[in-house]
Amino acid sequence: MPNEPGSKVVIIGQGYVGLPVAIRACEMGFDVIGHDIDVARAELLNAGESFIEDISPARLAAALATGRYRASADPEDLGGFDVAVISVPTPLSEGTPDLSFIEEATYALARHLRPGGTVVLESTTYPGTTEELVRPILEEGSGLRAGIDFHLGYSPERIDPGNLDWTFENTPKVVSGLTEACLEKIDAFYSRLVDQTVPVRSPREAELTKLLENTFRHVNIALVNELAMFAGDLGIDIWEAIDAASTKPFGYMRFTPGPGVGGHCLPIDPSYLSWRVRQSLGLTFRFVELANDVNDHMPDYVVRRLISALNDRELSVKGRRILLLGLAYKKNTADDRQSPTTAIIGQLKSLGADLVAADPHVDADRSRADVTRVPCDVDQVRAADAVVILVDHDGFDFDMVAAEASFVLDTRHCIKDGKNVEYL
Ligand SMILES: NC(=O)c1ccc[n+]([C@@H]2O[C@H](COP(=O)([O-])OP(=O)(O)OC[C@H]3O[C@@H](n4cnc5c(N)ncnc54)[C@H](O)[C@@H]3O)[C@@H](O)[C@H]2O)c1
Repeated sequence: MPNEPGSKVVIIGQGYVGLPVAIRACEMGFDVIGHDIDVARAELLNAGESFIEDISPARLAAALATGRYRASADPEDLGGFDVAVISVPTPLSEGTPDLSFIEEATYALARHLRPGGTVVLESTTYPGTTEELVRPILEEGSGLRAGIDFHLGYSPERIDPGNLDWTFENTPKVVSGLTEACLEKIDAFYSRLVDQTVPVRSPREAELTKLLENTFRHVNIALVNELAMFAGDLGIDIWEAIDAASTKPFGYMRFTPGPGVGGHCLPIDPSYLSWRVRQSLGLTFRFVELANDVNDHMPDYVVRRLISALNDRELSVKGRRILLLGLAYKKNTADDRQSPTTAIIGQLKSLGADLVAADPHVDADRSRADVTRVPCDVDQVRAADAVVILVDHDGFDFDMVAAEASFVLDTRHCIKDGKNVEYL
C-alpha cells in the first residue's frame, strides 16, 4: 500500500516546511528522500546539521540513523516514489506570484510519476494552482491522468517556526484531493503524520484556506499598527487598550503592533490572493492593498519616532550609537527573511547612525542584515544613545535594558513602565 510505512516518500524542498514533514514521515516509518536543489543544504543535512530550530540536531541524527531519511540534490533519487510532497518557495517577483519553483519541482516529479502515485502540493499559492499548473505538467510529463491513474491534491502547511506549543504533529492539517479517491489517499497519508486532518471539498478550498488564514493575520496586524500610530498622536496608551480588550472572552482576538511584518508568509501570501482576484475578476482586494500599505510603512514610522525622540533630547541620528535589539522577523526564530529590520537598518544608515545590532537567534554568517553585530550586554546598552527593541526574543534581558539604557524605543512593549522608554 502506497500510504503504508515502508513506502517511499519524497519531499521536494528541505526548508522550514519540507524538513519537518520529511523527518516526521521518517519517524512514522516511511522511507524518505528529502530532495533539495541546494547541494550544500543536502550535504549539511546528511552531515546532521539542522539549520531549522524546529528540528533539533538530535532529531535529525536519529532520522539519519534509521537509514530511512536521506537528503539528496539528485533528481534521480525521486525514482519509485509512492507519495511526493512539494514544499518549495513561492515568492513574489515585482508584485507578481513567482511559481517557477513549483513548476521546476513538478517537472522533476512528472518524470518519475507511476500509476497509483500520489502528489501533494504544500507550497502556499493562489487558488487554482494545483489544478491549473501542477496537474497539466504531471499529466503531460507522465502520460498519466490525474484522479484516474494517479492521486493529486493540496494540503497547506501551518508550521509556525519557534512555536513549542503548536507543532507540525498537533496542528490540525487541512487536506484535499482532486477526487474522492485522491482525498482518501492524501488523508490517509497525513493521518499517519499528524493528530488531526481536516478534509475539504477540493484543492481550491484548501488553497484559499491558507490564504484566508494569513490574510486575516495580515489585516488585523495592520489594524493595530494603524491604531498604534493614531493612539500615539492622541496621547492614548494603545497597549493598555489592547490588554483590556483582550479580556473580552468572545468576539475579539488579540493582535499587537510592531515594526512591520516579515517572514515568508505575511508580506507575500495575501498578495497572491489579491493578484488572483485582479487577474481573474479584474477587481481590487482592498483589504489586502490597505494592509500592505500600512504594514509596509511601519519601518518608516519607527525611524520617524526615533528621530523625534532623539530630537527631544537635542540629539541627531547622525553619529549617534544606536543599538537595535532583534533582526529576525518575529520572536524566538532565526528567520530574518523579509524582516522589517532590513528597511530600518537601511534608513538609519543613510542618516549616518553609528548602528549596531544584537540577535541571539540570527547567525551572523547567514544573516541578510548589513549591520555590525554585538552582544546585548550591559556595556553595549550603556554605550548606546538609543536602544530600539524590534523583536521580543525571550533571550534578551529587558530588565537590564530598562535599567541601563539612556533611552529605549520599545516597539513590542517588552519593558513594563520603564523610565526613558517610549512605546510604539
Ligand atoms: N516558513 C514558514 O513558516 C511557512 C509556513 C507555511 C507555509 N509556508 C510555505 O511553504 C513553502 C516553502 O517555504 P519554506 O519556508 O519551507 O521555504 P525555504 O526557503 O525554507 O525552503 C524551500 C527549499 O526548497 C528548495 N527548492 C527550491 N526549488 C526547488 C526544486 N525545484 N527542487 C528541490 N528543492 C527546491 C530550496 O533550495 C529551499 O531549501 C512556501 O510556499 C511558503 O510560503 C512557509
